Amino acid sequence: MLLLLVRAAALLVGLAVSCSSDFTPPTIDINLDDDPHVRWVPILKAFDSDFLKKAAQEVIESTIPKWLHEVLRSVIKVSEQFILPKPYGEELRGMAAHFGSSLPDAIMLNFAYEATAFCTSIVAQDKDGNIYHGRNLDYPYSVLRNLTVNVVFRKKGKISYIGTTFAGYVGLWTGQSPYKFTVSGDERDKDHWWDFWKNMVSAFLLRRSPVSWLVRETLEEAEDFQDAVLRLSKIPIITGVYYIVGGTRPGEGVVITRDRAGPADIWPLDPASGGWFRVETNFDHWRPSPAKDHRKEAAEKAMNATGQEHINMYSLYQVLSLFPVCNGITVYTTTMSAETPENYTTLVRPPDCRMIH
Ligand SMILES: *[C@@H]1O[C@H](CO)[C@@H](O)[C@H](O)[C@H]1NC(C)=O
Ligand SMILES: *[C@@H]1O[C@H](CO)[C@@H](O)[C@H](O)[C@H]1NC(C)=O
Ligand SMILES: *[C@@H]1O[C@H](CO)[C@@H](O)[C@H](O)[C@H]1NC(C)=O
Repeated sequence: MLLLLVRAAALLVGLAVSCSSDFTPPTIDINLDDDPHVRWVPILKAFDSDFLKKAAQEVIESTIPKWLHEVLRSVIKVSEQFILPKPYGEELRGMAAHFGSSLPDAIMLNFAYEATAFCTSIVAQDKDGNIYHGRNLDYPYSVLRNLTVNVVFRKKGKISYIGTTFAGYVGLWTGQSPYKFTVSGDERDKDHWWDFWKNMVSAFLLRRSPVSWLVRETLEEAEDFQDAVLRLSKIPIITGVYYIVGGTRPGEGVVITRDRAGPADIWPLDPASGGWFRVETNFDHWRPSPAKDHRKEAAEKAMNATGQEHINMYSLYQVLSLFPVCNGITVYTTTMSAETPENYTTLVRPPDCRMIH
């Protein structure tokens, strides 16, 4: 029945489903009681270290010009006492040591990802007040499909938070603090490779957080939805971003538009006035999307066609599977709801993920 409705909705917008080869990425456990230096060793159970090295090289080479790569490599190498940004610097050092990569490359890899993620995030509330949150992470490197990993962060054996990331990357663009809130990040300023350099300087000299580090810190420390929104709104970060946050109670859903220093705009759910969902891609919601980019409009149309009475994790996933919301560079789709943390689902999408006529 539901499927039929969703199909009908899909037909309504003139499309049909062709996403057939989604796969579930590996899940690893990271113990936060372990020393940061050895914390990420479990990743080697799920990934071959040669593959990790090759993949990291590919990402770095396609993001950073070769000369800059060489310059940074030697700058970082000569600073024996190189102070890595807290709180995840020591994890980077540990990863480099255990994965047989160099520290400069581990750092560059983590900042390279900071620069180019396109995405769609949706937060929605059903008729009963349940909150659902879904996201597509779009990234132009196919190799990331095989680097995608779900990570369960534990403290004293208990789940502290869950996220989806790429092997070798310590930040999170997607995550859930069980029974508290869910977060996703969408890139805001279209960064050029030279911004990558500015971002690194910001992190090292100004001690600002990379945007994905703030997501992880918030998942680790925030008490509830409200506390998460506060932290994600005001803690200085290295570049602009959209943070999308879902909570556990009716009305707890928001798109935060971030400048480096603080919030530029807060756009909450407003179910009483018909605002039962919010769609954010990579543009300020109060401005029209660029003429060539139809992801937001397509997602909103599909949400309207689905209707508040039929929204749930499954129908949200269907919306996130529609072309061009899901497109040739969509790496993974996550659907989550903080109130039912066991339903956290990430699927890696095939390179031809799209709805066709
Ligand atoms: C990812 O892994 C699959 C299966 O192991 C393989 O067929 C595919 O070529 C890999 N893709 C990339 C981009 O590495
Ligand atoms: C979705 O529905 C709302 C409320 O009826 C309407 O204002 C909006 O334009 C619709 N969006 C799209 C893309 O159809
Ligand atoms: C969420 O998980 C529960 C079981 O843990 C299941 O009964 C329910 O159908 C799931 N809901 C969705 C929308 O996946």
